[in-house]
Amino acid sequence: MSSVKVKVMSAATTARPRTSHPVLVGELMSSPVVTASPGQTISSAADAMVLAGVGSVVVVGDPGRPLDHRWRVDDRHIPVVDDGTLVGIVSMRDVMKVASIRPAGEAAVDAPRGLKGVVVTDTTIGDVRGTEGFFHYRQYSAVELAEHRTLEDVWTLLFDGTLPDAGGRMTFAAEISTLRDLPMGLDLLVREVAARASGEGPLDGLRTVLSAIAAAEQFQPSYDLDTPSLRQDALRLAAVTPTAVAALHRLSQGLEPIAPRPDLSHAANYLWMIHGEEPTPEVARAIEQYLMLTVDHGFNASTFTARVIASTGADLGAAVVGAIGALSGPLHGGAPSRALNLLEAIGTPAQAPAYIRAAVERGDRIMGFGHAVYKTADPRSTLLRDVAIGLGGDRATFAVQVEQLIVDTLAEVKPGRQLYANVEFYAGVVMEAAGLPPQLFTPTFAVSRVIGWCANILEQATDNRIIRPSARYVGPPPPQPVPAA
Ligand SMILES: CC(C)(COP(=O)(O)OP(=O)(O)OC[C@H]1O[C@@H](n2cnc3c(N)ncnc32)[C@H](O)[C@@H]1OP(=O)(O)O)[C@@H](O)C(=O)NCCC(=O)NCCS
Repeated sequence: MSSVKVKVMSAATTARPRTSHPVLVGELMSSPVVTASPGQTISSAADAMVLAGVGSVVVVGDPGRPLDHRWRVDDRHIPVVDDGTLVGIVSMRDVMKVASIRPAGEAAVDAPRGLKGVVVTDTTIGDVRGTEGFFHYRQYSAVELAEHRTLEDVWTLLFDGTLPDAGGRMTFAAEISTLRDLPMGLDLLVREVAARASGEGPLDGLRTVLSAIAAAEQFQPSYDLDTPSLRQDALRLAAVTPTAVAALHRLSQGLEPIAPRPDLSHAANYLWMIHGEEPTPEVARAIEQYLMLTVDHGFNASTFTARVIASTGADLGAAVVGAIGALSGPLHGGAPSRALNLLEAIGTPAQAPAYIRAAVERGDRIMGFGHAVYKTADPRSTLLRDVAIGLGGDRATFAVQVEQLIVDTLAEVKPGRQLYANVEFYAGVVMEAAGLPPQLFTPTFAVSRVIGWCANILEQATDNRIIRPSARYVGPPPPQPVPAA
């Protein structure tokens, strides 16, 4: 049998065999071939096609005889001949599917799964250097900022590009303190959302409330806004987020919401609105440091989500709400309470290695360990360990005792993967010591990360291009006739 040669037609095509063995022409071809002669009527040729259930017919001089120059075949089918006799026909559709050939004109680049390591934009907001265990906000070490500055300073840095002096700090603090109140008209909605909250905490409700605030305050598409107006929306949504979280939490506990206090720092005010009492300076500072360390962290899933939505020119509320959805998953922001559950489950340091070994053998992920970018200790975890030790308590002591045991066991059962404690491992310990219940862990993460999302939305809007990648279709080959209803 003669072979059919498939020629890749342009530089824009990509041939990537997906099968482990060479596919033979005979495996792909349809046989016997429906043929027609030049003298045959169209309706009889069509009847033959319907009878055989095929979509094309090869025009030949005399079926079964050596073929002559009158063969005809359309540009989507290739005849297969054996010693001059037509024995089958191969559809280009099937060839393209096997070879994964993309039609010319649809140039595409294959990205690794999950876009891991793919640079999709430029940013001046910050960067994560995974192998160095270092991350920064606009060139300043985030850990040093958390050690020496305030959350309001970092917020100013992210939004406006520079660290404030004393005057700038006061102006910024005064500005955000006027933006913390929930709109009066949404009181009923907030109560309704809180009443329907699941045991998972106020993160779902936060989406609804922030969406309602953006609508009530008529946030306009970012496409139509100048930078100062979009910055104003960003300040408003970031400033009101802790108030919404605290109100939803208190209502779900049968308690009345507490109004924000303009005289307190952002972190202290958050704890005030949760507990109804002023936090000690140590506790307020611990939470402030947690918030500062988690404001922004490269092109993580929720930041990417916010930028994708912002890139369509949608309003800032839409981008933040989408980002909260991305944050809620345990592979992103939903892990700190699971990390505390892990500590509970381990029980004693002596049991840690056996527990971890069994969990990994079951295929479980150890929550609070591993990171998509860090292949060394997560610097956030390192500082939060100190913060947790500073707040004291049995939980912090236990976490410190088992951390290294877990790292060692993971190195044994997952060699070469470089799995260390990530930010979530000590985040839960710190938040618990500050009196925050587990259902507030991820919402508290949202309280800080909303600042980073907004900075990214502002940056996206200043030099926008819609983010619109491609996917490879790997389903059954089209076009498939639509079955009769
Ligand atoms: C954060 C996380 C999703 C990053 O994953 P990643 O860098 O993309 O790594 P991968 O998912 O490709 O995993 C690489 C390998 O390490 C293993 N691994 C990664 N994190 C692990 C963990 N926490 N526990 C056990 N194994 C883990 C994977 O099973 C995989 O093993 P394999 O090569 O045998 O398949 C991952 O480490 C994880 O799921 N951690 C637990 C959840 C968590 O703490 N989330 C908060 C993140 S800040």
